[in-house]
Amino acid sequence: MQNTFGKLEVYQGIEILQGDMTGNMKKKVLVTGATGFTGGHFAHRLIKEGYMVRVLARPEEDVKNLVAAGMEIVRGDLTNPDSLKGTAEGVHTVYHIAAAFREEGVPKQFFWDVNVKGTQHLMDEALKSGVKRFVHCSTVGVQGEIKHPPAKEDDPYNPGDHYQASKMEGELLVLEYIQKKNLPAVIFRPVGIHGPGDMRFLKFFKYIQNGKFHMFGSGQVLYHLTYIDDLVNGILLCGTVQGIEGEIFTLGGEGNTTLSDFVETIAKILNKPLSKIHYPVWPLWVAGAFFEAVCRPFRIHPPIYRRRVEIFMKDRAFDISKAKRILGYQPKVSLEEGLKRTAAWYMEQKMI
Ligand SMILES: NC(=O)c1ccc[n+]([C@@H]2O[C@H](COP(=O)([O-])OP(=O)(O)OC[C@H]3O[C@@H](n4cnc5c(N)ncnc54)[C@H](OP(=O)(O)O)[C@@H]3O)[C@@H](O)[C@H]2O)c1
Repeated sequence: MQNTFGKLEVYQGIEILQGDMTGNMKKKVLVTGATGFTGGHFAHRLIKEGYMVRVLARPEEDVKNLVAAGMEIVRGDLTNPDSLKGTAEGVHTVYHIAAAFREEGVPKQFFWDVNVKGTQHLMDEALKSGVKRFVHCSTVGVQGEIKHPPAKEDDPYNPGDHYQASKMEGELLVLEYIQKKNLPAVIFRPVGIHGPGDMRFLKFFKYIQNGKFHMFGSGQVLYHLTYIDDLVNGILLCGTVQGIEGEIFTLGGEGNTTLSDFVETIAKILNKPLSKIHYPVWPLWVAGAFFEAVCRPFRIHPPIYRRRVEIFMKDRAFDISKAKRILGYQPKVSLEEGLKRTAAWYMEQKMI
């Protein structure tokens, strides 16, 4: 197999070796986003389970870790359909976890190119190769602010920013492929993910550790998190439970929390006091809008942006009972335990 980058790196013998080592030859799967936080944890878990794991990684990405774990690397980019040719050949299940997510200060089209068109290119490859299951990673963000928490999967779409809107369009396209092209797909929507390797929540830990955390707004907005290991269990169930094609599952931790409880838990873990002062949130939101407008033309990551400010403003709480009932999903790591493990990792990495 060759792709347009001509840099297909197949580490010979891995497939045979895995079958021999585990004595339990498992299926070959393709994972996108394995150079990122969630996809990385998930791909390593698959290796532990004895799967033969092929990873789609962009040409410039460092994949030493993945290679060392025994993964097969295919170089490609979701936005370049030619580069994806053959990536799903011989694959039983595709786990599509990659997305444009953390970027800011980029044109909105960037999110569409990766999260909508990129998903389409990968689904076309999956159909061509006759994969048996396509597991698509969406986000609870497609439902944006939740008016009547906790939200169920069939509550209305209500994306609040261009990232969430692009994830909604990607999800709708997967549903269209299921209906019109018989793609055997399953969609999961994670809530906020934390755990070792995550950089998104690092700021909370840093500011609390340095005594610089400020609460904007009441702090009583609802927030819902999942610990990475629980999410990984849920993703695996989406790929392996039979007869669930066409379904959407919200994957989250047990119950939700308020933003105040979330930061107080971190403060308790770090043994740091929290200021009792609450600041109004609207000036921060306006500053976010300003920095976005100024930074976007120069493709600079804004220091403050609305997508992040909205964590102080919007209720986000979700009902995970469908995943429990149909998948047998059961989160095991409490919020406090997950945050403890995350804090320990940040400390180990000397990030806080
Ligand atoms: N983190 C959360 O709290 C959260 C919550 C809900 C849903 N999600 C969803 O969960 C998934 C994983 O999120 P994450 O936090 O783990 O993200 P992440 O760490 O930012 O990883 C994103 C991955 O996507 C890859 N990617 C981006 N553009 C690509 C392209 N054009 N072609 C190929 N690969 C590309 C990245 O590759 P590079 O390494 O080359 O950049 C990286 O491996 C995403 O679908 C996201 O929408 C995340």
